[in-house]
Amino acid sequence: MTALAETPACTDVDAVVAQLAPVLPVVGHDTPAPLVDGRRVPYANLDVAASAPALQAVADRVTRTLPLYASVHRGAGYLSQVSTSLYETARRTIGEFVGARDDDATLIVRNTTDALNLLAGCLPAADDGEPGRVLVLDVEHHANFLPWQRSARATVLTGRETAAATVAALRDELAAGAAVGHGYALLAVTGASNVTGEVLPVADLVEAAHAVGTRVLLDGAQLVPHRRFSLAETGVDYLAFSGHKTYAPFGAGVLVGRRDWLDAGTPYLAGGGAVRSVRVDGTEWHDGPARHEAGSPNVLGAVALAAACEALADVDADALRGHEDALRRRLVGGLEAIEGVEVVRLWPDAADAVGVVTFTVSGYEPGQVAAYLSAEHGIGVRDGRFCAHPLLSRLGYGAGAVRSSVGVGTAGEEVERLVAAVGALVADGPQARYDVVDGLWIVVDDPRPVPEGSGLEGLLATAGPGGDEAFGCLPEDA
Ligand SMILES: Cc1ncc(COP(=O)(O)O)c(C=O)c1O
Repeated sequence: MTALAETPACTDVDAVVAQLAPVLPVVGHDTPAPLVDGRRVPYANLDVAASAPALQAVADRVTRTLPLYASVHRGAGYLSQVSTSLYETARRTIGEFVGARDDDATLIVRNTTDALNLLAGCLPAADDGEPGRVLVLDVEHHANFLPWQRSARATVLTGRETAAATVAALRDELAAGAAVGHGYALLAVTGASNVTGEVLPVADLVEAAHAVGTRVLLDGAQLVPHRRFSLAETGVDYLAFSGHKTYAPFGAGVLVGRRDWLDAGTPYLAGGGAVRSVRVDGTEWHDGPARHEAGSPNVLGAVALAAACEALADVDADALRGHEDALRRRLVGGLEAIEGVEVVRLWPDAADAVGVVTFTVSGYEPGQVAAYLSAEHGIGVRDGRFCAHPLLSRLGYGAGAVRSSVGVGTAGEEVERLVAAVGALVADGPQARYDVVDGLWIVVDDPRPVPEGSGLEGLLATAGPGGDEAFGCLPEDA
């Protein structure tokens, strides 16, 4: 590992940040990652915005719940009743964590994408009988873009140079629609950008939308795991987020919000559990969450997510934010101090930003930077266009960028390693040789073993001795 003194722009404050411990323990924090030089180092997971590792508390809860697991909602057996209770209690815990109002519905779905597709299917038609109108920004993740493009009359507003100007443009568009009788049913907006982490002022958005009778959907995928959020306090009408980004990777996601549209909408899935009665000539559907949760529910996913919500709620909100702010500042400051590194920004006046920092390195393709960070430093980041093609194109990053992201399980030392590794790339170049195979950057003659059955064996067809060794049998550090 590079010594602190060698990392770009390392000040006394940076040295303190480098010592920061994770706020909460996560599973796999010390998992060894093999390097091309034969060493192995603790894996630095700086890709938590894509999928976050499980909190230890979540893993423990799942382990404790497994012996209690049985069928839900239908079984008369003791464990069926216990499991039903666990599922419904988890629903309440999750709803409370995001400040659901008494009459809100909390639906357990698969992920944010699922939640947004579900809501799109419940969007009321406009007065002319055509699909309802929805206003979105071009900064959205595709999950908060494509459902509206497909199921609604979507208007895409180009984000402006500042957060204030973006909110003003949204306000103008909402008012203009209402003035000509084409009011928007919904403003669907991200809680935090999955590209820059930046946050728009939710209170202003809600005020502008509600002033003309438009509801607000917040895509909370990147916000909820990193900031306290309350539907009741903000007035946001609908919130979607994912368990796997909230340190509970057990297949559950959530849609919470106003019941009326959900109860009037076509059931998302047709099947058992969503119906009161079925006749050959017609069906009576439930209302409430059951209406959209046909099939056997994901009890363990819901329990896991509830455990994550409890663990996050137990952390002091300022401590949670302070930890991520410090890591983010060090990432931005350290990366920007390296010649040829550019940090992607949307809004210089953004009042807040979660721990997502996206950058480019002059002279290197994003895929090569990501491959280098993994192969030579054991650091996991994401490269590409982050399911935000319209935004990346508008900002001039059509070829993609590299995204690093942090969370409650991130240590300062991991951020320091990334800054040092990018600095070393710019100063000395990569030590291994890289090439593109089937559109993917790989190490030429990659000697690293890959986990058996990972599907990566084919990619590393040229791997040297040890290339097919099981991951658990790595030689000790040289
Ligand atoms: C802002 C945002 N919205 C939606 C999604 C989609 O989340 P999921 O893949 O869990 O459905 C993501 C995923 O990266 C995201 O970052």
